[in-house]
Amino acid sequence: MAKYKIAWMPGDGIGIEVMEAARIVLDKLKLDAQYLPADIGWEFWCTEGEALPKRTMDLLRSVDCGLFGAITSKPKQEAQNDLIPELQGKGLLYRSPIVRLRQELQLYYNLRPCKAYPGNPLNYRDNIDLVIFRENAEGLYSGVEFFPVEDELREMMKKYSPALGNFDDVAGSDMAMTTRIVTIRGATRVIRKAFEYAKKHGYPTVTLVEKPNVLRETSGMMVRVAREIHKEYPEIDLWETNIDAQVMWLVKNPENYGVMVTGNLFGDIVSDLSAQLVGGLGFASSGNIGDNLAVFEPTHGSAPKHAGKYISNPNAMLLTTKMMLEWLGEIEKAKALENAIAAVILEGKVRTYDMGGDSSTIDVAEAVAERL
Ligand code: IPM
Ligand code: MN
Repeated sequence: MAKYKIAWMPGDGIGIEVMEAARIVLDKLKLDAQYLPADIGWEFWCTEGEALPKRTMDLLRSVDCGLFGAITSKPKQEAQNDLIPELQGKGLLYRSPIVRLRQELQLYYNLRPCKAYPGNPLNYRDNIDLVIFRENAEGLYSGVEFFPVEDELREMMKKYSPALGNFDDVAGSDMAMTTRIVTIRGATRVIRKAFEYAKKHGYPTVTLVEKPNVLRETSGMMVRVAREIHKEYPEIDLWETNIDAQVMWLVKNPENYGVMVTGNLFGDIVSDLSAQLVGGLGFASSGNIGDNLAVFEPTHGSAPKHAGKYISNPNAMLLTTKMMLEWLGEIEKAKALENAIAAVILEGKVRTYDMGGDSSTIDVAEAVAERL
């Protein structure tokens, strides 16, 4: 029996291509794993009304971790139109499978490192090494939303939050509400992971990125929890910043920052901004991590217009594969893979179009594999 069981989820579009790239390096590394193909993607929405079928969720609960490519998602009406006739008009609702995965499997933090590898022509600047801890199972992604906002609910809420009275002249049918839920449990576990990481990898600071001057309750809770946890890590500085200023400073002085921790939507935004500082989505790896399970995915989407062309940069997926190896405890293999990726970037001979080259997705993976 293989040492690891890995759910293999290519998904849609270029997800399939970058997963082939991942497999090339994993095979070269001779990882002792069984790769179990799992259904996830737009075609399952169209034919089953479920982009993430229950059988995939069950499989995920039985493996060591999952590796995921990308998935196509479309706005509400288009999603309805793509359903097979038998499923039309049944009131099926499309919800992002990746968000479901994160919440239903309690993969409560999203680890998104953004490092400027020397020689990458797309680096905004050298010496950037950011590591984002994004809360991954609550916040504005909680899915607690209202439209229209019923009178009964409004009256009830107004009792507890009088500011809602400012909207008394707006009809409930003209109002939509998305709630940001932060819990002590959610804040504690992600912030603790950020501090642990900073300590383990020698980062001198943890930056909590929130907006407590306006979002008094939710950001306020994040700040309180961070200060509490910080007491256990006196050797690390806690910096507290506001999201708006933070994105500006990240552009101005990215080399000043290291580990950052923030809520779900702020983390979504900060991680794309940070990815662009180190070459864009072609370099953005990520892991959705819980206590006993993790699903790794590059941050990029399925890029339908590039699908089938094998021109996409696989570095995001290869760096994601490196994160997966680390999480499995295969530290040597993870290091070897990162070194090989870095060497190919530095040498600059095998590059996809985004880096100014004309190599294919597979060419890059093979160049990396050759160095392993
Ligand atoms: C990401 C993506 C997802 C998110 C989308 C696809 C739901 O942008 O992983 O960052 O918003 O979290
Ligand atoms: Mn995103």
